[in-house]
Amino acid sequence: MTALSEFGSTAPGPSQQDTAWWRQAVVYQVYPRSFADANGDGIGDLRGITGKVGYLRELGVDAVWLSPFYPSALADGGYDVDDYRAVDPRIGTLEEFDELCATLHAQGIRLIVDIVPNHTSNRHVWFQEALASPPGSRARERYVFRPGRGEDGELPPSDWTSTFGGPAWEPVGDGEWYLHLFAPEQPDLNWADDEVRQEFLTTLKFWADRGVDGFRIDVAHALAKDLTEPLASQAELDAALWGGAHPLQDRDEVHDIYREWRRLFNQYDPPRTAVAEAWVPAHRRSRYASPEGLGQAFNFDLLEAQWDAAMFASIIEENLALARESGTSSTWVLSNHDVVRHATRYALPEGTDLHAWLSTDGADPQPDEERGRRRARAATLLTLALPGSAYLYQGEELGLPEVADLPADALQDPTYVRSGGEHKGRDGCRVPLPWATQGPTLGFGDQLAHLPVPADFARFAVDSQEDDETSTLSFYRRALAERRRLQSGETLDWLTDMPPAVVAFTRPGGWISVTNFGTTPTPMPAGSVIVSSSALDGPQVPPETTVWLQQSGPHQD
Ligand code: NOJ
Ligand code: CA
Repeated sequence: MTALSEFGSTAPGPSQQDTAWWRQAVVYQVYPRSFADANGDGIGDLRGITGKVGYLRELGVDAVWLSPFYPSALADGGYDVDDYRAVDPRIGTLEEFDELCATLHAQGIRLIVDIVPNHTSNRHVWFQEALASPPGSRARERYVFRPGRGEDGELPPSDWTSTFGGPAWEPVGDGEWYLHLFAPEQPDLNWADDEVRQEFLTTLKFWADRGVDGFRIDVAHALAKDLTEPLASQAELDAALWGGAHPLQDRDEVHDIYREWRRLFNQYDPPRTAVAEAWVPAHRRSRYASPEGLGQAFNFDLLEAQWDAAMFASIIEENLALARESGTSSTWVLSNHDVVRHATRYALPEGTDLHAWLSTDGADPQPDEERGRRRARAATLLTLALPGSAYLYQGEELGLPEVADLPADALQDPTYVRSGGEHKGRDGCRVPLPWATQGPTLGFGDQLAHLPVPADFARFAVDSQEDDETSTLSFYRRALAERRRLQSGETLDWLTDMPPAVVAFTRPGGWISVTNFGTTPTPMPAGSVIVSSSALDGPQVPPETTVWLQQSGPHQD
């Protein structure tokens, strides 16, 4: 094992002076168990990731966000955390974590880790203590326990349903029930409890002290809850307005927690960053992203949008304005570990119900793979041209599609079982990466992969794309290198005299991004081509294509 000191203090790490690095960063999400498996046990691990830092450097990302790597029974892909200050022994050790952190830093890449504060796992020492303790005990105050209704507490405290299906309450056998907004293995913490607050400050400090540059905050909008009796009904929850009025979501008090975290983050030099996973309407997002709070929040609007020029333009406009007002930068996300990959979303007819499509094993309707990839590359190049941070999800740089036909007995997502098999869930975007054209797991590991790697993933293997100028991987590398060179300022100016199917703008420095969402070519603005998402044929922007151009002649910034 390589000791931390081996990398030395003279390593060309990320600049300590650059306190604003996160504002326009390209952040690459690694889902550790599916990235690269160094010891061949079928589960991706930290040493696997360390071995691929060269790949990440060549790709040109600024930071890596690691999804949970903590000890976990994997009831929800690691978002059920047993111990927040340790590494799952199947994934590695703390020393290997330090080695990964140092190797990334030595290549100028920052590291963001995932923090899951809304719930622990049911194996967490606190929850085990709560189960072993009687109703009314101190141990139960750290979670949300309530007496059941009915004569003997045999009915749940309310009719709330969990995000993964089924009831949101689980009985513990003594008349009390505990709340779990997600799986039963994910009991919700009580954030009104001071010890809970202190514990997470200790955890954040633990990772920040180890050199972690930032944090991604899971379910950031649900920590504060109003559990005043009588509890609201599910119908009342469904009807509750966003904006502080919902008993379980997006309550104003949640920001007291993040203000306290910010004070801790700002004690570091440079200050640690944070990005909120907050599924809230756009106008509420800035609260999470404010400089006094987490600083940045995911904007999932493009991820949820159809392939439509007007929709993209209005989302961009709105989010840039919101970010500006709250003194932060916007974020752009097209894929992550929770959604159908964007190459596949764009391959399906508009309005396709993705759950229904997955339940047909991806057969009905048939995706138009080529069109999906073409649009995905165009959408990616468009988002990379925008001011703000771009969050990429592992495998999108290979053009990976969703694997919709995983066999039922391979599925791991709790959604599948809890929806009675109705919703297949999120495993199709979590399939291990194909690194090589050959081998039983296509270079992910040895003989095994915790989710089967489809044989036809060989078409997307890294080794087959690396030297191919036309591959999606080469395209991502070009785009990221150009973005790094060109990106300056945080503004854009719309080019307005464009056909309705076109989204085009200039950026400081006089470069233009133009996207043709339509199915016929459109005239290209004047300038020299920097990069394009599909092959060009003359001075036109082909259908479903983004082109970046450098304006010729004098320009104004
Ligand atoms: C959001 C995470 O991205 C998702 O994967 C997880 O299931 C839920 N939060 C619960 O932690
Ligand atoms: Ca392994």
